[in-house]
Amino acid sequence: MGTFVWVIGAALLLSVGVTVNACPPSDRAALLAFKAGLHEPYLGIFKSWTGNDCCNKWYGVTCDPTTKRVADINLRGESEDLVFQKAHRTGYMTGTISPAICKLARLSSVIIADWKGISGTIPPCISSLSFLRILDLIGNQISGEIPSDIGKLRHLTVLNVADNKLTGRIPRSLADLSSLKHLDLRNNLISGTIPRNIGKLRMLSRALLSGNRIYGPIPETISYIYRLSDLDLSLNRFSGQIPDSLGKMAVLGTLNLDGNMLSGKLPATLLNSRISILNLSRNAIEGSIPDVFGPRSYFMILDLSYNKLKGSIPKSISSASFIGHLDVSHNHLCGQIPAATWFEHLEASSFSYNDCLCGKPLKACL
Ligand SMILES: *[C@@H]1O[C@H](CO)[C@@H](O)[C@H](O)[C@H]1NC(C)=O
Repeated sequence: MGTFVWVIGAALLLSVGVTVNACPPSDRAALLAFKAGLHEPYLGIFKSWTGNDCCNKWYGVTCDPTTKRVADINLRGESEDLVFQKAHRTGYMTGTISPAICKLARLSSVIIADWKGISGTIPPCISSLSFLRILDLIGNQISGEIPSDIGKLRHLTVLNVADNKLTGRIPRSLADLSSLKHLDLRNNLISGTIPRNIGKLRMLSRALLSGNRIYGPIPETISYIYRLSDLDLSLNRFSGQIPDSLGKMAVLGTLNLDGNMLSGKLPATLLNSRISILNLSRNAIEGSIPDVFGPRSYFMILDLSYNKLKGSIPKSISSASFIGHLDVSHNHLCGQIPAATWFEHLEASSFSYNDCLCGKPLKACL
């Protein structure tokens, strides 16, 4: 009798032990439903998704060590991982992201990146994952719109859906993502305007919206984003003037506005700011280049090519502390190119296709 009780007790303990250390069956079921929506023919990463304990050696799945709830899904189609080395190829996956993923209520990061073939939409229920910090779906074929209530994700720091086929507008609620640091919407088919309340994103440091169909003015409110260091609005359909205030931002170092329909004058503030990479190429900027360069002007890239700039290259450009790559070609500039030590490395192509520029590295002035 004693032995019998002992055996039962041990068996109970053992089974309790197993369930405590394994992921909850509901999380396991949600992962399997998520997996069922996908097809990964070359690497076999889902072969590891077997057994009861989804916290144990399921490729790309990590659980919270205390709660055993699934915390991270990290599936990257381009990686140095052993599976990839063995297969001598990058990943390819088709299928869709199942809404079953939303049952993993404790998810903190969802990275399903660079699989090239995953299509379908971002499940709208994703905005109910209130613990989510990272949502990275770069490099797939995802279509549809960014969920309109994405702003509910108050802990989200990274939203990266670049290189997909997303349409629709930037949802107004995006501005409620009060923890957002990194926003990457590049190379999609997103249209509409930038919501004016974007200035509310006080934690944002990179805003990359290049290669979409976004139109309208660049909202001045962007300059309220104190920590913004990298703003890329290139290759869209923005029009109107470039706000002066962009040149007064505390840490803005990269400003790419090339390939839009921006007009009006070149704000003087941009030439004497913290900005060191400035590309305004292929717009319709007119007037002259402001004569405001000074020791604070330090440019790795200053590309003003393909605009409607007139007048001469200002003398003050010689007092800039550095300009690594300068391009003022394809404008209507005229007159003598000023001399500066760092002009030595510049080639004629930086100045070509203007009305009547002359002097080194072009032909001598008459
Ligand atoms: C500036 O933008 C134009 C147009 O998008 C691009 O062709 C050019 O390479 C960019 N300039 C530099 C120096 O990157």
